[in-house]
Amino acid sequence: MYSGQSIAITGAAGGIGRAMAEKFIAEGAKVAISDINTELVEKTAAEIGAVAFTCDVSSEEAITAFIKGAKGAHGPVDVFVSNAGVGFPDEPGGHAAGGSNESWELSWQINVMSSVYAGRALIPGWKERGQGRFVIVASAAGLLVQVHSGSYTTTKHAAVGFAEYMAIMHKNDGIKVHCVCPQYVKTNMTKGMTEVKDGPDKHLEASDVADSLFAAMAKDEFLVLPHPVIKDYFQAKAASHDQYIGGMAYRVKTMDKGHIPNL
Ligand SMILES: NC(=O)c1ccc[n+]([C@@H]2O[C@H](COP(=O)([O-])OP(=O)(O)OC[C@H]3O[C@@H](n4cnc5c(N)ncnc54)[C@H](O)[C@@H]3O)[C@@H](O)[C@H]2O)c1
Repeated sequence: MYSGQSIAITGAAGGIGRAMAEKFIAEGAKVAISDINTELVEKTAAEIGAVAFTCDVSSEEAITAFIKGAKGAHGPVDVFVSNAGVGFPDEPGGHAAGGSNESWELSWQINVMSSVYAGRALIPGWKERGQGRFVIVASAAGLLVQVHSGSYTTTKHAAVGFAEYMAIMHKNDGIKVHCVCPQYVKTNMTKGMTEVKDGPDKHLEASDVADSLFAAMAKDEFLVLPHPVIKDYFQAKAASHDQYIGGMAYRVKTMDKGHIPNL
């Protein structure tokens, strides 16, 4: 299905982005990967058979240059994956609004505005062609709450909101949008966290997330839930916000602080 298509993925030096790149390549696609980490993205590209670009997604200029570079290498981008993301804990303030302004600003730029910049560069061409696929890697934190990280929770909610908005505004143009909302995945982002090994909340491999995306793309499904249980949690939250907040507040009171990832 993706054979010969031009794919561009941000934040793909490792983790989920790399796993998605590998899956597209296995399907015969031509893949451009980018990351802020030049050395690692070049190494990864050489290993998997992609072309590498340095791109700091907080810069609109850099995103535009990446999309132009991917087009130069493989033709107009057919699928764009906005995957690069960052998370910061509330510390040093230690309360909901305690994160530094710098961490909030970076989270807005990298987790939200990067997709706006990419959409700005891609949507006009996709409208003309009557097709295009935009994937936003948000998080279960965009539907629920990541305790101890106000900036991550808030910006991932915004990422889900922008994905929904784009999907609605451009469905009639033939543009498909997918929003990927995993719970914990074994990548650099969750290093040092106690691994949940069993059950519906267990830590997944990055390749599991790529598999879920491909299953959703095959059916043109918007919401990609590599942990299916997130749908139950989301429905329970919609049924009663008060019960959800009460349950999560109890967890905050009782949880082992060592279990909190250094997001
Ligand atoms: N790992 C998880 O548990 C988990 C769960 C839900 C969602 N996510 C999301 O998945 C996405 C990928 O994360 P991951 O888990 O693979 O972690 P990761 O740390 O392995 O990958 C993130 C990549 O983004 C890159 N990056 C950071 N800032 C950047 C910038 N300004 N410009 C370009 N690249 C930048 C990093 O260098 C890194 O290679 C993120 O959006 C993350 O929020 C991760």
